[in-house]
Amino acid sequence: MTPVIDIKGVEKTYKKRIKALRGVDMTVGKGEIFGLLGPNGAGKSTLVKIMMTVISPSKCQGTVLGNKVGDKATLRHIGYLPEHHRFPPYLTGRQVLEHFGAMSGIKRKQRKAKASELLELVGMGSWHKDKLGSYSKGMRQRVGLAQALMNDPKLVVLDEPTDGVDPSGRRDIRNILTHLKDEGRTIFLNSHLLSELEMVCDRVAIMVHGLVRTQGTIEELTADQAGYAITTSTPLDQSILSQITTQPNMPKLIESKDQTKIIFKTDNAESIQPAIDTLRKNNITIESAGLKRPSLEDLFMQVVDKNDGSKPGAISGAKASKKGANS
Ligand SMILES: Nc1ncnc2c1ncn2[C@@H]1O[C@H](COP(=O)(O)OP(=O)(O)OP(=O)(O)O)[C@@H](O)[C@H]1O
Ligand SMILES: [Mg+2]
Repeated sequence: MTPVIDIKGVEKTYKKRIKALRGVDMTVGKGEIFGLLGPNGAGKSTLVKIMMTVISPSKCQGTVLGNKVGDKATLRHIGYLPEHHRFPPYLTGRQVLEHFGAMSGIKRKQRKAKASELLELVGMGSWHKDKLGSYSKGMRQRVGLAQALMNDPKLVVLDEPTDGVDPSGRRDIRNILTHLKDEGRTIFLNSHLLSELEMVCDRVAIMVHGLVRTQGTIEELTADQAGYAITTSTPLDQSILSQITTQPNMPKLIESKDQTKIIFKTDNAESIQPAIDTLRKNNITIESAGLKRPSLEDLFMQVVDKNDGSKPGAISGAKASKKGANS
């Protein structure tokens, strides 16, 4: 894997006490769609801002596109959609794109053509003469994505690109991301929409309280929890469960909090037939049986619960702070 982002030990303490990042290691390969997820206040945007040189890290080793983190010249090859962006409301969609194109050093004629192409790509072609102030949240987000592509970037960094975008717009954005990947670009995105990430990401990292707790492909991260699941119409009591588990050669049960679902650690349908026989003998109605893998949402909840990530900013010695000036 050729790394496009390769960072180690990234730390950020705001105002000498808010430990937003506590030693983040992360590698993103060329041509990947990489998803960073985590609860509110986990430190995702802080990490993005450090990579985009918007804020300085307290500690950081590593590179982005082969250059040291903090190198301003590297930004020429990066497209960035910031979280909560505020483009001037008096500019039209086209003017925003042309403005960012000009800042990236694209010649006037080229940037006009590029702006038209990108406005079409994000479905805003017919709105190009309207001012941003008249756009909905999702429309501003689409223009924000287009602006991140003006400089023909090798790496595209998107902080919650589908925030406020309707379902068909989210599907359009997924298609755009896949198209960008097919062109050989690398995409790094933050999102809370786990089902969206599950559909497009090659790899994900889950961050809780300023540390990456797990990273890899969704298959890798859920492999040891894949198994045969049987769901029943009524909850299973302890006596039925012990009738099942005491049968010879039964695969091990994976813990399931849901009493109408049992999951066996096996991918062999044959081996769970005795369990089905036992349930039927006890007149239990089986609603479904099949091979199941935890969803990204299941995995996220497990990682967050394990690391007590339910409270934003609940890092020892630090309180959730109001986001303000970049310090
Ligand atoms: N400028 C700032 N000054 C002080 N504290 C800050 C600042 N920006 C962020 N923080 C704090 O740093 C921590 C991480 O915030 P960050 O915005 O990186 O989280 P996040 O994972 O992006 O959250 P969300 O999912 O809500 O966008 C939080 O505790 C936050 O309050
Ligand atoms: Mg954020």
